[in-house]
Amino acid sequence: LNIVHIAAEMAPVAKVGGLGDVVTGLSKALQRNGHLVEIILPKYDCMQYERITDLKALDVDMHSYFDGQLFKNKIWVGTVEGLPVYFVEPHHPAKFFWRGQVYGEHDDFKRFSFFSRAALEFLHQAGKKPDIIHCHDWQTAFVAPLYWDIYVARGFMNSARICFTCHNFEHQGTAAASELSSCGLDVHRLMRADRMQDNSAHDKINPTKGAIVYSNIVTTVSPTYAQEVCTAEGGHGLHETLNYHAMKFVGILNGIDADAWNPCTDPFLRFQYNADDLQGKAENKDALRKQLKLSSSDVSQPVVACITRLVPQKGVHLIRHAIYRTLELGGQFLLLGSSPVPHIQREFEGIAKHFQNHPHVQLLLKYDEALSHLIYAASDMFIVPSIFEPCGLTQMIAMRYGSVPIVRRTGGLNDSVFDVDDDTIPLQYRNGFTFLTPNEEGLNGAMERAFDCYMNRHEVWQQLVQKDMRIDFSWGSSAAQYEDLYEKAVARARAAAS
Ligand code: ADP
Ligand code: GLC
Repeated sequence: LNIVHIAAEMAPVAKVGGLGDVVTGLSKALQRNGHLVEIILPKYDCMQYERITDLKALDVDMHSYFDGQLFKNKIWVGTVEGLPVYFVEPHHPAKFFWRGQVYGEHDDFKRFSFFSRAALEFLHQAGKKPDIIHCHDWQTAFVAPLYWDIYVARGFMNSARICFTCHNFEHQGTAAASELSSCGLDVHRLMRADRMQDNSAHDKINPTKGAIVYSNIVTTVSPTYAQEVCTAEGGHGLHETLNYHAMKFVGILNGIDADAWNPCTDPFLRFQYNADDLQGKAENKDALRKQLKLSSSDVSQPVVACITRLVPQKGVHLIRHAIYRTLELGGQFLLLGSSPVPHIQREFEGIAKHFQNHPHVQLLLKYDEALSHLIYAASDMFIVPSIFEPCGLTQMIAMRYGSVPIVRRTGGLNDSVFDVDDDTIPLQYRNGFTFLTPNEEGLNGAMERAFDCYMNRHEVWQQLVQKDMRIDFSWGSSAAQYEDLYEKAVARARAAAS
């Protein structure tokens, strides 16, 4: 198949969170299986340009529609992680992608609706005929209605089926209806036909809903989260739409990029290691404790880590609580994370100051890829106390590095971490510590059981670490599920056309 991903993020060049990891990891797996996979991204000023090879501008200028005018776009092509990527650079006075950050601008709706239209226009003008166009999250949700209502309706394109993956239903891109017409969509028609009208604010349009209605395939990133969002409590207002479109909606658990996250070969690590020989893990732990000026005199003291965006979804109050509980239980705590929410960032800055020069706590309030690898490798336990979690990648990465997860049973955490003490689950699948109630007692219970095992049952702990490292979280089976959906959608289209 010929598959084109249109997305706002791609690891490692333009990554904010897991979306970037997924676009790259899934694309690599599909490419490995023999498909032609291309990616279209905005050309941000803040990309890691050193990780793009052979970047060059294409010789043609492509014009795309916005706000009643045609704007020139320069298209660049380069290779990221072995994948061909096209970068759209708009010549628009608002300098949409020249802002020093991927998200968080007052005109994000405009920036990404412009990009969605320009990406489709590029495919059309370049004469590309993808079988699948796969868009991700609200930022590129516009692609689905634009494709059918403009590009197919006007006879410009028709080869493709559309797949939309929602990585987080909390963010739907809802905006004033008038905003939508800029990219050329007929707002009145879309509102009248209840195709893009927000389910609760009736004067607003909702790009995520539009993509659900218009796409051939709709996915989210774990089976449990797919069930949760079909309920009134978990659906962020879209449960009725999702239930109506249940036939095309499915949850597929993300994988992780097993090459990028591999303790045997990880170039960020001083000491590489594997499940059969954990010596390197102990050396990484010792080195990182010294580097971060934590006490390293007690080799058996466990290091508990958390690597996360500090947003309410992630259970920030429980993360804060875990710092204190870890100290009471005799461990050391490492947090790597930053927050786009000013009051949360300030709160954690206050806690970091409180623990300045503390021998057992270190809060690193920044985004730092290299350090994240060192922390996964150095830690013994890894906490993810999310209130909700569509998939979550950090628990899977942690296991691959032999850091045992302590997670709340929600969304993808519920599909990837199984409690060691849960007799209803076959022993071979049990790989961590879980709790259900999102409060301090809930988390305490799981942490206490983890500490007890670590401190008092050394053999059992060691076996757990080795078992976790051997679990296959690579993209293989998840990519196969996407392939199956793509192929069925393409087959349906061919059958309908013949
Ligand atoms: P989300 O996408 O909701 O942030 P995920 O668990 O899906 O959560 O993915 C998070 C990704 O971002 C992981 O690859 C994790 O290692 C990385 N990450 C999160 N915070 C940081 C940070 N402060 N520094 C480096 N990497 C981070
Ligand atoms: C979102 C979700 C996270 C998921 C990631 C990749 O950021 O919050 O749970 O792992 O997307 O799909």
